[in-house]
Amino acid sequence: MGKQPSAWITTQQKKRWPLMILLLLSLSTLMAFLIRSTFNSCSNGSINNVGNFIREGQEEEKGGTHHQVNHNDEAPTPNPLDFMKSKLVLLVSHELSLSGGPLLLMELAFLLREVGADVVWVTNQKQTESDDIIYSLEHKMLNRGVQVFSAKGQEAIDTALKADLVVLNTAVAGKWLDAVLKEHVADVLPKVLWWIHEMRGHYFKLEYVKHLPLVGGAMIDSHTTANYWKNRTRERLGIKMPETYVVHLGNSKELMEVAENRVAKRVLFEHVRESLGVKNEDLVFALINSVSRGKGQDLFLRSFHESLKLIQERKLKVPPIHAVIVGSDMNAQTKFETELRNFVSQNNMQGRVHFVNKTLTVAPYLASIDVLVQNSQARGECFGRITIEAMAFQLPVLGTAAGGTMEIVVNGTTSLLHPAGKEGVMPLSNNIVKLATNVEKRLTMGKRGYERVKERFLEHHMSERIAKVLKEILLHKAKRHSES
Ligand SMILES: *[C@@H]1O[C@H](CO)[C@@H](O)[C@H](O)[C@H]1NC(C)=O
Ligand SMILES: *[C@@H]1O[C@H](CO)[C@@H](O)[C@H](O)[C@H]1NC(C)=O
Ligand SMILES: *[C@@H]1O[C@H](CO)[C@@H](O)[C@H](O)[C@H]1NC(C)=O
Repeated sequence: MGKQPSAWITTQQKKRWPLMILLLLSLSTLMAFLIRSTFNSCSNGSINNVGNFIREGQEEEKGGTHHQVNHNDEAPTPNPLDFMKSKLVLLVSHELSLSGGPLLLMELAFLLREVGADVVWVTNQKQTESDDIIYSLEHKMLNRGVQVFSAKGQEAIDTALKADLVVLNTAVAGKWLDAVLKEHVADVLPKVLWWIHEMRGHYFKLEYVKHLPLVGGAMIDSHTTANYWKNRTRERLGIKMPETYVVHLGNSKELMEVAENRVAKRVLFEHVRESLGVKNEDLVFALINSVSRGKGQDLFLRSFHESLKLIQERKLKVPPIHAVIVGSDMNAQTKFETELRNFVSQNNMQGRVHFVNKTLTVAPYLASIDVLVQNSQARGECFGRITIEAMAFQLPVLGTAAGGTMEIVVNGTTSLLHPAGKEGVMPLSNNIVKLATNVEKRLTMGKRGYERVKERFLEHHMSERIAKVLKEILLHKAKRHSES
């Protein structure tokens, strides 16, 4: 039992009670926000930290649902989603798991519940997660008043027919339409909003998306992804996208609360650095994404290695720099992970490169690093939620000039961009050195990023954007109705 009460507490023991209480407060905030905030909307990799997650689920039960409501210390402003009150909304998820798509749909479910909509959830696919996770996720929804039905039962069909709005989440959820609704498909299509978060070739199958042209609308997380879908559906499948709305995501209130709580941040900073064996004054560059070639951890490590060489060659006076890779999963990407680790040991970087397993709780890492690296390759991120989360923590971003990242950051102001692919290795290593040697620049960029988040990437911004789309879909449905 010696060190049992967890390092969070141990680091605090020397300090005073008021701090303790603050810490506990911020911890409960952390617990509450765990699930809602942190994942990358485009990544399909599930993010595991089951232990934490389930504990959080229990916390929630005790806390009841109030804390969601009176949470906002700003002046009460009308919720842009208020018009959804008493509307019946059916959410169709392709799976129930701790991965980006389903968690985002759950976030929408809770936003709708907050304004008094009736929300029904169905999961179309077989379970991929353990029973514990499914149970915990379903429970979380039931606690917030979301009804959970079987995807294939009569209840689901009746709900689809009665609903004011049906949200299909991800391309794959399209299979549900024919499989379950059968002869009713045409009646339901006009009120379907199809929410798409992916930019990968294998989604362009008629089997999934053949009804796309006739739905009420499509909602996509970035312009890059929307253009990609428009082009690909036309070129590959010969179908036309419906009215398509780009909706950039926003940070949850819970994440912002931690990001803006100095004490919480400091505690997390010290705790995480201690656990990684990194000194407080060292500089940490972190890439937080599920480990896979598409996310570019290999190229980042090459850049990092080049930076170490540059610093040594030029005899630059900088604190020791570290690379942290959060999102490791030895079981899923064994070959790639082994390659990364071999690269580290071949270049004697063991003391400078740290691997952290996949986790839902990215806030502690965001609180304890100096720079976020977003190195997604090829078409880049579809949106890349970790980018706005990092900016909330006043971190500068070193990102690939691709995909949604370009729609979030301002090159030179909040971020320094480098090309995707091998030609990005040297530019990224130069940017690493630039930020390592220039404290002023680093801090200013972080501040500018934070300001940008406050201007456009908060939960209420996202709610406003979603509200506009939902209004359009309801209108569209009404028109169809009066025409027929
Ligand atoms: C559209 O897709 C085709 C191939 O499917 C590609 O050659 C072309 O460059 C794309 N156009 C745009 C504007 O992305
Ligand atoms: C990380 O995951 C690996 C296997 O996936 C496991 O063996 C290891 O104990 C985990 N590390 C931590 C710190 O949880
Ligand atoms: C970002 O800014 C740098 C410096 O101004 C410039 O060299 C680079 O081309 C820019 N990259 C993009 C993608 O705009």
